[in-house]
Amino acid sequence: MNQSIDTWTLKNAAGTEVKVTNYGAIITSILTKDRHGNVADVVLGYNRVEDYINAVDKPYFGAVVGRCGNRIAKGKFMLDGATYTLATNNNANHLHGGVIGFDSVVWEAKPISGAGYQGLALTYLSQDGEEGYPGNLNVKVTYRLTDDNELIVEYEATTDKATPINLTQHTYFNLAGEGSGTILDHEVIINADRYTPIDVESIPMGTIESVKSTPFDLTSSKPIGREINAPNQQLEHGLGYDHNFVLNKGDSPDAMTLAARVYDPKSGRVLEVFTEEPGVQFYSGNFLDGRLVGKSGKPYLHRGGFCLETQHFPDSPNQPDFPNTILRPGENYHTKTHFRFSSIN
Ligand code: BGC
Repeated sequence: MNQSIDTWTLKNAAGTEVKVTNYGAIITSILTKDRHGNVADVVLGYNRVEDYINAVDKPYFGAVVGRCGNRIAKGKFMLDGATYTLATNNNANHLHGGVIGFDSVVWEAKPISGAGYQGLALTYLSQDGEEGYPGNLNVKVTYRLTDDNELIVEYEATTDKATPINLTQHTYFNLAGEGSGTILDHEVIINADRYTPIDVESIPMGTIESVKSTPFDLTSSKPIGREINAPNQQLEHGLGYDHNFVLNKGDSPDAMTLAARVYDPKSGRVLEVFTEEPGVQFYSGNFLDGRLVGKSGKPYLHRGGFCLETQHFPDSPNQPDFPNTILRPGENYHTKTHFRFSSIN
């Protein structure tokens, strides 16, 4: 243990380059080509790891969030008859694992490689009681950059006491290049006929509703900005898109399926996200306000990046009708998400 903080670079045959630090398992940079072969860094973040560590107002740039990503209402849940109280850090609620979540700890890192990929395996032991969660949880996150231009994120965990777990990746993308303005002209498709509406504190109301005839119908390509300011109570609650979409999975709830596709008409870059998870949080960077200055010295504007956080649904430990997030001793938590990069003319 006590590995020092460092940064590793993964490269592939397509000329893509991904940088990862073992502080927070943060992806600090992704260089990809546009339609003309020009390279840009398409993820928001800072130049120095210290800037992630010292950030006062954490936007979770690039990080793995956990033990439970997203919100748990009032930081409380019941499990096997006991009530657990978690650290609260978002109004009265628990967000992204608490005050010192997986985004703010040092992971053990080991470079790996194989046929057609370079990777980094990161492990972390989350102690029994950490941020209020039960059980010693051994977590492993593996990043693999393949020659097919996919960044594969594999999450694994085991525990010695029953605990909720819901890991995700919180990278903010701007396919025109970080710091190059808003993402409102990016065109998005989300493979979801339904979503989970939220209250004013962004806690799911427990219902699953159709996206039909709402600004949440992203089943066919739509610029992110087209309806983001439409009069709609859910957009008001989220201050834009900040919602969990229930992915269309057919009869196979754990199948690897398309979650979302985003196209930037300016650069031609395309990001496709595939996941085994049942949901994706589409967050349109509503809390960015120009105060944070990124890697190229430019301010990160309101809606200057978007996240596609593949996940189980927020507040699942308190929502009996949502898919289960409880991991028990003897079980293996294992889930994968692929980010595929390409460009079109
Ligand atoms: C949440 C937002 C939150 C953001 C933190 C997203 O995953 O859905 O509500 O503000 O993370 O930067």
